[in-house]
Amino acid sequence: MKNSESCKIHFAGLFTNNTMIIDILTLFPGMFRGPFEESIIQKARERDLVRINIHNIRDYTHDKHRTADDRPFGGGPGMVMKPEPIFECIEKLRTEKSHVIYLTPQGRRFNQALARKLVRETHLLLLCGHYEGVDERVREALVDEEISIGDYVLTTGAVPAMIVVDAVVRLLPGVLGDAESAVQDSFTENLLDHPHYTRPEIFRGMRVPEVLLSGNHQRIAEWRREQALKRTKKRRPDILEEAKKDESENKID
Ligand SMILES: C[S@@+](CC[C@H](N)C(=O)[O-])C[C@H]1O[C@@H](n2cnc3c(N)ncnc32)[C@H](O)[C@@H]1O
Repeated sequence: MKNSESCKIHFAGLFTNNTMIIDILTLFPGMFRGPFEESIIQKARERDLVRINIHNIRDYTHDKHRTADDRPFGGGPGMVMKPEPIFECIEKLRTEKSHVIYLTPQGRRFNQALARKLVRETHLLLLCGHYEGVDERVREALVDEEISIGDYVLTTGAVPAMIVVDAVVRLLPGVLGDAESAVQDSFTENLLDHPHYTRPEIFRGMRVPEVLLSGNHQRIAEWRREQALKRTKKRRPDILEEAKKDESENKID
């Protein structure tokens, strides 16, 4: 994984091929060692389907102590991330094709539909907050979209950024092989995924459903759809409701 040195990368001409560029701005570059160096994301990087650059926001400070935070105007607990280093870093990396995202619990809730929208971008710039978050002027002047990974508060934006990157990169064309195909994943058709089985046929007295051994592809497809529907109704009826709402709204349009 490249460290903050990657800020020195020259970006001219990066958008001429199909490589997605993801720049992540953080106070904790070390947190990203590991998650992007294993498995599917690592393979996608090796095949140059995605380039992920981690930038240390402190590298854009100019004082002896590399100060990236300060006390809030108006008083109160906690610190706020200073605007100057963030502006400097984003303004250096950003082009007219960039989509700048701030990870924040106050943002739009991340889901599969949003991952599918983001995979169409060529350059994602992910800003990870810390402390009480960033100075409001960063959001007003630089951020295109704010994303939350759920209704809870984490210590820093690194894990949320990793989640967004993982969900988006696996959707990039060519990243998943047949074995890991995203076609049948949960949420793809407003349904949770159906149950999966592999060998052995009988394990500790538990049998694989007969239909899956039948070789009848139509019956198998019907069974899977039925199971997916049943499972979604039971566990996540909200997804089905949401899909119905979208459908009727589209009809009105
Ligand atoms: C302690 S949080 C700040 C929370 C902030 N005071 C608020 O209530 O909105 C520090 C940073 O972690 C990240 N973060 C925490 N929870 C998050 C979530 N659910 N989704 C996305 N980012 C989150 C954000 O980047 C945030 O700036």
